[in-house]
Amino acid sequence: MRDDLLPVLACPVCAEPLGRVDGGQVGCAEGHRFDEAKQGHLTLLPAKRRALTADTPEMVDARLRFLGRGHYAPVERALAAVVASVDVPGVVLDVGSGPGTYLAHVLTADSVPAWRRGVALDLSAIAIRRAARAHERAGAVVGDVTERLPVVDGAAAVVLDVFAPRNQTEYARVLHPDGVLVVVTPRTGHLAELAEATIAVDPEKERRLHDSLTPAFVLRSSEDLTWTMDLSAEDVHDVVHMGPSHHHVDPETVFAPATVTAAVTVSTWSPA
Ligand SMILES: C[S@@+](CC[C@H](N)C(=O)[O-])C[C@H]1O[C@@H](n2cnc3c(N)ncnc32)[C@H](O)[C@@H]1O
Ligand SMILES: [Zn+2]
Repeated sequence: MRDDLLPVLACPVCAEPLGRVDGGQVGCAEGHRFDEAKQGHLTLLPAKRRALTADTPEMVDARLRFLGRGHYAPVERALAAVVASVDVPGVVLDVGSGPGTYLAHVLTADSVPAWRRGVALDLSAIAIRRAARAHERAGAVVGDVTERLPVVDGAAAVVLDVFAPRNQTEYARVLHPDGVLVVVTPRTGHLAELAEATIAVDPEKERRLHDSLTPAFVLRSSEDLTWTMDLSAEDVHDVVHMGPSHHHVDPETVFAPATVTAAVTVSTWSPA
C-alpha cells in the first residue's frame, strides 16, 4: 500500500486513521495492526467473516478479459468525464471495484490530474489482488460495503459505484461535502439478446436506486447510455460468467457469437 494512502484509510476496529508504525507495519494509534499482502493490498474487515457475496476467481477473470477488450468503453469515458469535472481534494473511492478496471481507467485519463489517487474496495480478496496491480496511484482494500467503510470522514472526492451494492450513509460520511457519487446501473434491455443466459434487469431498478440513495443524496444528473457490441463466442461466455448469472448458467453451455445491446444509466449524486 502506498504510504500516502494510509491516512485516508481508517482502522476497522476503532475508526482511527492508519499509518506506518514501528517496524513499518500498518496500524492505528490505538495499537491495532494489519498485515499487507505480498500483492500490496490490505484486508480491513470489521471481524472474521466469510465473503458470501464476493465474486469468485472465474468471475473476476471473465470480467478482466471482457472489460479489457473495451466493450464497456462508453462507461469508462462517462466515469472519467465526471471525475475530471470534480474540483475538490480527495481520492476516487471505487466501491465494489472488482479488479479495479474502471478506477485504473479514470486515473489514466488525460483529463484527470496526475495528482489524483484512488482506492479500490471490494469484498472479494481475489478481485482486490488484481486491483492492487491496477494502477500505481491506486491502493486496494478488502472491505465490506454493508459495514462501516475503512475510510476516514470526507476523504473521497468521488465515490464510484459501478454495478455494485450501495451504502448511502457511509458514502455520505466518506465523501467531501462538495464531492460526487457516480452510480452505474443496468437498464431494462441491457444484454437483452442474452436473456436466456443472464438474469433480467429488475424493472423497478430505477425506483430502487432512488430509494437506496435518499435521503442522504440528491440527484444531480442522469444519463442513459445505449450501444451495440459485436461479441465473439468468448466475449459472450465472459459477459455471462462475469456477473451473477455465473451461478445459474450450466458451466458446459457453449456460446455463439452475437450482436448484443448494452443499456446502462450513469447518475451523479451530491450529499444532501
Ligand atoms: C458486478 S461486480 C462489479 C465490479 C466492478 N465495479 C465492475 O463493474 O467491473 C460487483 C462487485 O461487488 C462486489 N461485492 C459484492 N458484495 C460486496 C460487499 N458487501 N462489499 C463490497 N463489495 C461487494 C463483488 O465482489 C463484485 O466485485
Ligand atoms: Zn484501531
